[in-house]
Amino acid sequence: MNVFITRKIPEAGLQLLREASIQITEWTEKRDLTAAELVERCQDHQALLSAGHNKIGAEFLEACAHLKVVSLHSVGYDNVDVAAATRLKIPIGNTPGVLSGATADTAFLLMAAVARKALYMHKKILRGGWGFSDPTADLGVDLNGKTLGIWGLGKIGYEMARRAQAVYGMRIVYHNRGHNEEAERNLGAVRVSFDELLAQSDVLSVHTSLTPETAGTFNARTFRRMKPTAIFINTARGGIHHEPDLIAALQQGMLWGAGLDVTNPEPMAADSPLLSMENVAVLPHIGSATQETRSAMAILAARNVIAGLRGERLPTVVNPEVYT
Ligand code: DGY
Repeated sequence: MNVFITRKIPEAGLQLLREASIQITEWTEKRDLTAAELVERCQDHQALLSAGHNKIGAEFLEACAHLKVVSLHSVGYDNVDVAAATRLKIPIGNTPGVLSGATADTAFLLMAAVARKALYMHKKILRGGWGFSDPTADLGVDLNGKTLGIWGLGKIGYEMARRAQAVYGMRIVYHNRGHNEEAERNLGAVRVSFDELLAQSDVLSVHTSLTPETAGTFNARTFRRMKPTAIFINTARGGIHHEPDLIAALQQGMLWGAGLDVTNPEPMAADSPLLSMENVAVLPHIGSATQETRSAMAILAARNVIAGLRGERLPTVVNPEVYT
């Protein structure tokens, strides 16, 4: 049994694979494999463990239909043509749950950083701009008692809401297709229409997946319907917001600020206007990047590889239809 791994992953996952007598080939170059290289490398492997955002499209899957499993080192699977994988009977594994706390921490960190202009202030010191203390300059906003709107209240959104309520007593509104009863019971979260989410949120945090339906949802039209005092947070996928519209909305005062762990495109251009705005905080897609969380993700991704190679059901499978 063997697996091809597209990037260095934490030792805990590798160890599990070795203990299961799986032969490992790791791509260690610090560049993404090209599509052709990925197909070529997979030819003599039975499993793929994909870390990073390699495109696992229909073309790749058809060229590698022999794969017994594709295991993602991520919860998001917007880079995978799931329908094609299901048609070819290839199970796709992901890593839900284990990264919810770390990703919610990142959303919370961005919310606080934007509210207090923290990253901008840090850059100001670096430029030698600490200077004279003016009681009316560089003021942020309080978060106490404000309304947090969550778009996509699943595991990560729940953790964000829980933190915001515990620390700032924030009122929680959310927009999902169905009810999140746990959040309604434990946090008093209120399910509202999408229009109400836009209208009521002082902070609007995006936690939904990127799909053809959600792509570009946050654009000039939606930003215009938000409060001019609102903070927009996206730790899900950059494709969910339209970045030029976000820049314009901030420049025109349609929004007060934005915190992004995901951008569109990634990596963000070093001269993006967002990087020099006072009320904006940008991080380079580090949502799950803690030692503990990345190790837990590697373990879960390895467990998915092991199960797939043994012909067993993956512990966390994106397309359970492959088993019916
Ligand atoms: C995830 O797990 O989807 C994170 O965003 C890393 O890509």
